Amino acid sequence: MTQRPSILVARAIFPEVIERLREHFDVETNHTDAPFTPQQLAERLQGKVAVLTTGSERIGAELLAACPQLKVVANIAVGYNNFDVPAMTAAGVLATNTPDVLTETTADFGFALLMATARRVTESEHFLRAGLWSKWALDMFAGAEVHGSTLGILGMGRIGQGIARRGAHGFGMQVIYHNRSRLDAASEAACQARYVSKAELLKQADHLVLVLPYSAESHHAIGAAELAQMKPTATLINIARGGIVDDAALAVALRERRIAAAGLDVFEGEPQVHPDLLTVPNVVLTPHIASATITTRKAMANLAADNVIAFLTQGQPLTPLNPEVLPKVLNA
Ligand code: GLV
Repeated sequence: MTQRPSILVARAIFPEVIERLREHFDVETNHTDAPFTPQQLAERLQGKVAVLTTGSERIGAELLAACPQLKVVANIAVGYNNFDVPAMTAAGVLATNTPDVLTETTADFGFALLMATARRVTESEHFLRAGLWSKWALDMFAGAEVHGSTLGILGMGRIGQGIARRGAHGFGMQVIYHNRSRLDAASEAACQARYVSKAELLKQADHLVLVLPYSAESHHAIGAAELAQMKPTATLINIARGGIVDDAALAVALRERRIAAAGLDVFEGEPQVHPDLLTVPNVVLTPHIASATITTRKAMANLAADNVIAFLTQGQPLTPLNPEVLPKVLNA
């Protein structure tokens, strides 16, 4: 009997997905769910041809050099800034991610965070839980209007367009966006969105939602200078990646009320959160949960598993990030 390929699942995932993988492979899991150190990951990957990762596993040149048998890394995330894709391509290792299956769920959350931020939901709940509510008042926790306001979106991919549709069709918002490349006319019409420069976006948005991928180019795309261009009544929502916002500069802007409020699902250096963000009241903080519904998280884990199965059994991954490596890996 030929030996079955060995693979690693680097974090705890749904048992039924492990069972599906076990139909094809010898599967090593991480029962504790504690993220591996780079050295532990390299050790666990010895003899493995595939690994399912999350954003907490960094795949770079050093790890790849230490794991010559590795053929495919399947991220259970649409974002893949934990991958050094050029290094993976150079090493002949296929990279995959999980697009599409999380688009609508993540757009729902972006909108939820926008609403919670604009209408001061968590700040007022903390006040109530602290026993501070003694009377109703006309201006108590008065927030920012959502319907009919101007929704700005920085990064107009699938999730950005999902948020735009919700704003335009559900809340009668004027939608403006900025992106590296402008959408085609049909896509702009579908989400009633108007392309503007980044400067105009910062100036005009009542609610600015960040949905762009993290890269060297987008590092601190929103820092002190950009925050200074926003309306003092504006809110800023980050569901993209930590590092796109300069969190220290944002904490200052929130404390000094240079913008009204922020909603953050992602943080520089998460799971650490900049201590100053924890002490300002006008920010809603959530622990990177934008795609977290059971249905969607299962779909993401299944898509990552399907990528590994389809690639290792038929040579045809479903959502490859560097398909140019396929001939090299398949002929190796
Ligand atoms: C989550 O942040 C993802 O990229 O899927």
